[in-house]
Amino acid sequence: MAAKTHAGQVGYIRSLNDLFVVIRLTSEQRPGAGQTLTIVDKPEVILLVEASTEDTVYCLNIFGSPNIQQHDVVLIGDQSIMLPSGQSVLGRVFDSMGRVIDGEGDFKGGHKLPMRTVVKQQLGKKNKPEVLETGIKVIDFLAPFVKGRRIGIIGGAGVGKTVLTTEMMHNVADKKAALSFFVGIGERIREGHELYHTLKDRGLGESTVMFMGQMNENAALRSLVGPSAATVAHSFTEQGKDVLFFVDNIYRFVQARNELAAMRGTTPSEGGYQASLFSDLHRFEDSLHATEKGSITSIQSIFIPADDLSDPAVVEISQQLDSTIVLSRDVFERGIFPAVDLLNTTSSLITPEILGERHFNLVGRVKAVMRKYYSLRTIIAIVGESELSPEDRLDYERAQELTQFFSQRMFVTEDLSGKKGEYFTREQTLKGVEKILNGTSTPAPTEPPKEEAEANTAQADTTNEAPHS
Ligand SMILES: Nc1ncnc2c1ncn2[C@@H]1O[C@H](COP(=O)(O)OP(=O)(O)O)[C@@H](O)[C@H]1O
Ligand SMILES: [Mg+2]
Repeated sequence: MAAKTHAGQVGYIRSLNDLFVVIRLTSEQRPGAGQTLTIVDKPEVILLVEASTEDTVYCLNIFGSPNIQQHDVVLIGDQSIMLPSGQSVLGRVFDSMGRVIDGEGDFKGGHKLPMRTVVKQQLGKKNKPEVLETGIKVIDFLAPFVKGRRIGIIGGAGVGKTVLTTEMMHNVADKKAALSFFVGIGERIREGHELYHTLKDRGLGESTVMFMGQMNENAALRSLVGPSAATVAHSFTEQGKDVLFFVDNIYRFVQARNELAAMRGTTPSEGGYQASLFSDLHRFEDSLHATEKGSITSIQSIFIPADDLSDPAVVEISQQLDSTIVLSRDVFERGIFPAVDLLNTTSSLITPEILGERHFNLVGRVKAVMRKYYSLRTIIAIVGESELSPEDRLDYERAQELTQFFSQRMFVTEDLSGKKGEYFTREQTLKGVEKILNGTSTPAPTEPPKEEAEANTAQADTTNEAPHS
């Protein structure tokens, strides 16, 4: 160990395991969680303090700098990781550390904002829910997008989470002068680039801030990108702004924290996850909320390992959300997009107070039909469709129609499919659902026969009006 004491010295490295660094304190000052440290003569190294005790500090070597060793002298660094702030973040792409990575020149605004690692629990009252229309039928109907709340899009690999998240971003950001944050966590690098260009092409680039900690980054950087983006988003809500906060994919945050816990040598608990990771998750989710001044409305995609909805991390994440849209491989394989599982998609915001009696009642009826559909499917597999009673048969057909009805073309896949995207108002969606539920026989899925449309009640006769596009 170095005999001479350096200015700002706090201790020396006692042990190292991958990104996890243990420091022995040699000075009076004890760095707290969120502070940074560095190494003498290696200013490029940043150690982020995770926790400390009387004589020991536990840190992450956030850049994975390979040239640090046991006994290296540790110096005090900044109060926290410092992030960019102000209007000039708009239209830019940052990494977990708040450095620009879009190749569009240096950031001119200074790195001033300390990363929020401790979030005060919000005690203030929740405002009257304000429903925002997304133009996506299934979301507006089953998982309403409410200001200041959190929506999840759950699904296994390749069932359309990213497409649906991006479509929401497109539709909601398109509307008013909304301010959107997009946070890429642990997903493909290419997808981030594509989104950046899609937004630019559609003129949404200037109202969007992107933060990227993709799968090529180490676990420390992947775990920090969410909190970094949330810190910067929070600074906008403090100025009274309403922020839309998109995360793709929050499961990767949990996974990154899990990798870090393994480096620390903690024994995994439930389903291979750390208990501490759930508190990490809560801390992050708690930082996304509405305040007296502004709001953060969050949309998060959630990967399900092995298509297993009972995965402990998936369950834990779902519990943090107000609405969860479940995407199903079964529906996807039938070529229905977005491939939403109408029965498992749930929301605590489905109440008459928030949506009105009419919408609320329709949701109950749709759920009942879908529930019946799944039980009838089992019966049909055994005895065949011809054995159904006329009433059951009608419900069975209505369920199939509903599944079809909730599919729609997306704007963000226009280039891919060559077909124009569709936007439906909530009123159009409600009328469409009513029409199916009140129908007496099966019309063709898209264009109901004219006589039948006319025969229906007055309230249902506008359903085949063209969607806005
Ligand atoms: N709404 C949709 N319309 C058309 N194609 C879709 C839609 N959603 C998904 N796809 C197809 O499925 C692929 C995988 O979707 P993606 O959103 O990347 O899945 P995930 O993020 O769940 O892994 C897309 O590249 C696209 O080909
Ligand atoms: Mg994806």
